[in-house]
Amino acid sequence: MGTLQGRDLMEPLDFSAEESEELFDLSMRIMEDPKAYARACDGKLLATLFYEPSTRTRFSFEAAMLRLGGRVIGFSGEQSSSAAKGESIADTVRTVACYADIAVMRHPKEGAPLVAAQSSDIPVINGGDGGHQHPTQTLTDLLTIRKEKGRLSHLRVGLCGDLKFGRTVHSLIKALSRYEGMEFYLISPEELVVPEYARKDIANGNGSRCMELTRMQEALPHLDILYMTRVQKERFFNEEDYVRLKDSYILDANKMKIASPDMIVMHPLPRVNEIATEVDDDPRAVYFKQAKNGMYVRMALLMSLLGVEN
Ligand code: NCD
Repeated sequence: MGTLQGRDLMEPLDFSAEESEELFDLSMRIMEDPKAYARACDGKLLATLFYEPSTRTRFSFEAAMLRLGGRVIGFSGEQSSSAAKGESIADTVRTVACYADIAVMRHPKEGAPLVAAQSSDIPVINGGDGGHQHPTQTLTDLLTIRKEKGRLSHLRVGLCGDLKFGRTVHSLIKALSRYEGMEFYLISPEELVVPEYARKDIANGNGSRCMELTRMQEALPHLDILYMTRVQKERFFNEEDYVRLKDSYILDANKMKIASPDMIVMHPLPRVNEIATEVDDDPRAVYFKQAKNGMYVRMALLMSLLGVEN
């Protein structure tokens, strides 16, 4: 350990493939014997600066720090911080850095966590910035794929739903394109196709290929992984478009019949209507396991950025 000490995490490729591997190995060790890590962050303080709603990301970070024996301070919602008085992100973070050892920030504006990272000398983690990136969800996703499929290369991955505004999709594409022989099936309505930068990430990847389609059924029989996403209501400019597009894809038991018996279904959650609850009992549905993996990978991340040895 040590190479990640003191660093920030803004984008999925901030860590090399080897550094990511070390994180996943540590996550697995923590998962196998959590008690051994119960005091790893003794005396450390995490600040959670959440300017946008969150359940999994905030709670899993807080649970991660508490399970490592550290403590947590923070706010949830702009109204409960001095941002409501007009304070800049730079000033808020400079102040937080006087009190805490590490911070995670979620913000509706793209690039806000980067401003925070540049304004302070404690490690800052991007907990999701607007429709841009969500690197700790990606660590969660990669750990889940590694556990469930045993590899991070030569996979056929279907990404379905709101590929335009879904930051988890943008980050996952970026991270997976680094591995060999990936095939992406990008399934979305025409209005919600991936942004150009995600297409470039695939083109610049390690021999990655991609296919864009509007019908989920065409992709289903070919996939190793189906990554479902919700339509990102809060990023739409008008309600009518959202209402028209929100139920574009609904994965149900019937559609699962045409998928491979080995395909796994992932979802960053929260789910709205895009996966019928009847799919939850299908052994291929791993989205709640994925949420749990998120806590362990965040434990490994906090330990590594803080440079604490077990
Ligand atoms: C995602 C997010 O915030 O981008 N949620 C999460 O962190 N698991 C996905 C979403 O909100 O749709």
